[in-house]
Amino acid sequence: MPVYTVSHVQNIRICVIMVGLPARGKSFISQKIVRYLSWLSIKAKCFNVGNYRRQAASHPTADFFDSQNEDGLKIREEAATAAVNDMMKWFNSEDGVVAILDATNTTRQRRDWLLRLCRENSIEPMFLESWCNDEKIIMKNIVDVKTTSPDYEGLDPDTAASDFMKRIDKYQEIYEPLTIEQDGDLTFVKLINVSDQVIINRIETYLESRIVYYVMNLHIRPRCIYLSRHGESMYNLEGKIGGDADLSERGFKYAQKLPELVKQAAGDQVDNLTVWTSTLIRTQQTAQFLQQDKLQWKALDELDAGACDGLTYEEIEKQFPQDFKERDENKYEYRYRGGESYRDVVIRLEPIIMELERQENILIITHQAVLRCIYAYFMNVPQEESPWMSIPLHTLIKLEPRAYQTIVQRIKADIPAVSTYKEKGTSQLGESHASGNSSKNLITGAPIDKKDG
Ligand code: ATP
Ligand code: F6P
Repeated sequence: MPVYTVSHVQNIRICVIMVGLPARGKSFISQKIVRYLSWLSIKAKCFNVGNYRRQAASHPTADFFDSQNEDGLKIREEAATAAVNDMMKWFNSEDGVVAILDATNTTRQRRDWLLRLCRENSIEPMFLESWCNDEKIIMKNIVDVKTTSPDYEGLDPDTAASDFMKRIDKYQEIYEPLTIEQDGDLTFVKLINVSDQVIINRIETYLESRIVYYVMNLHIRPRCIYLSRHGESMYNLEGKIGGDADLSERGFKYAQKLPELVKQAAGDQVDNLTVWTSTLIRTQQTAQFLQQDKLQWKALDELDAGACDGLTYEEIEKQFPQDFKERDENKYEYRYRGGESYRDVVIRLEPIIMELERQENILIITHQAVLRCIYAYFMNVPQEESPWMSIPLHTLIKLEPRAYQTIVQRIKADIPAVSTYKEKGTSQLGESHASGNSSKNLITGAPIDKKDG
C-alpha cells in the first residue's frame, strides 16, 4: 500500500518566488528546499533564471544589469519568461508540486507579473525574500561563490568581486523589498540577516508551513557532520538482521578506536561536538569511550524488520520468499510485515534532519538503513538508489556542507568487520555476488580520505 505524504493529501501546487539582491543566498536556499522536499518524496524543482540568461549573455558586466540598459532588460525579461514557461510545463506535464523560481524578483512590477501567472494557472504563489545588510556575510558570499561564477570565467577574483559589487548596486537602485504595509495580502516569508529575524505573512497550507519551518532552521555557520555505524555486532557476525545485540570483540575495538578517529577527522573542533546515538545497545556501546556530550534518539533506531527481525537473509528468503523478492524489486517502498520500509524511516527521520540543520558539529552513531537515509539527504541520492548504498562497518564519514555541495571524507579504521551488504538477487552477504548494481560503490568505491564532494 502506498504511503501518502503531505503533497498527495491536497492537490496543491506551489511556486516559491525568491526575492532579494544578488549574493543573498537565494540559490543556496532554493537548492536546499528542493533537496529537502525531494528527500520527503515531494516533487520539487528549481528554475534558475540566471542559467537561462547566460544562454544569451554569458559574461555580462555590471552595466548589463542597469535598469536603463534596454538590451540587457530585454534579454533578462526573455530569460524570466523562458524559465516561467518551463516551470509551467513542468507543473502540467510532470505533476510538479513545488517549483522554486530562483531570480532576484526585486521589483513589484516583476512580482505582480508572476503573481498573475500563478493565479491564472491555479498555482499558489509564495514569496521567499532573503534580506541581508551584514557586509561581512555579503562579502564572504561574493568571495566564496560569485568570483567563481561562470559569469566571470577567466577573470581574476578581485576584478570579479568588484564588478559583482557594482552589479548589486544596480539592483539596489530599483529594489522594492516586501513589506507588510504594501504586500500584506500576499503569502510570504522574509528572512532578515539569515534568520536573525523572520517575518511570516499569510502562510496558509501545511506544505507552505513546512517550507517556512525548514528555512527558519537553516544557518550558514561552518560545521561538520560525522556519521558512523555502530561497531560490528554479534548479530552482524551471524548475518542476522535487527535485534539488540552486543558488540563483537572487533566491534568493541572499533569503539575503543573511535575517539582517535574522531580527533583525526575533527581536529581542533573535537571537543566542540555532540554525539547522537540510537537507543539500541550496539550504538551505546560504540559511543562508550567518547567523552563528548551524548544524546539518545529513538528515531535513530534501525529500520524495524518486523516479522523478519532476528533472521538471516537466507532464512527470510526461505520463510518469506514472496516478501524477499518484493523487497529486492522495490527496496525503498517495501515494508516488512509488522515493520518498516525505507520510506517509513525517512518520515521518522524528518525531525532529526530539521534538528541537524539547526545544530553545529554532530557525530551520529546509528545503523545501516538509517545512515543510508541521512546520507541520502545530504548527498541528494535518489530514493531508488539510497537503500542499495554500501556503508561499511568501522568507517567514519565526515560531511562538510559547503554553499552548493557537501564535501565527503571517509576515514576507515584498520579493524576488520564482516560485510552486512546484501546485493539484489542474492541472500548472501558481501559485495561481489551480483553484478550490474551501479550504486553499490557510492560509498565504498572512493579511496579513503579522498575529498570527492
Ligand atoms: P544571485 O542573485 O547572484 O544568484 P544568490 O542570492 O542566489 O545570488 P547565492 O549564490 O545563493 O546567492 O549565495 C550563496 C551564499 O549565500 C552561500 O555562501 C551561503 O552561505 C550564503 N547564504 C545562505 N543563506 C543566506 C541568507 N539567508 N542570507 C545571506 N547569505 C546566505
Ligand atoms: O545487517 C545490519 C542491519 O543494520 C540490519 O539490522 C537491518 O535490517 C539491515 O542492516 C538494513 O539493511 P538492508 O536494508 O540492506 O537489509
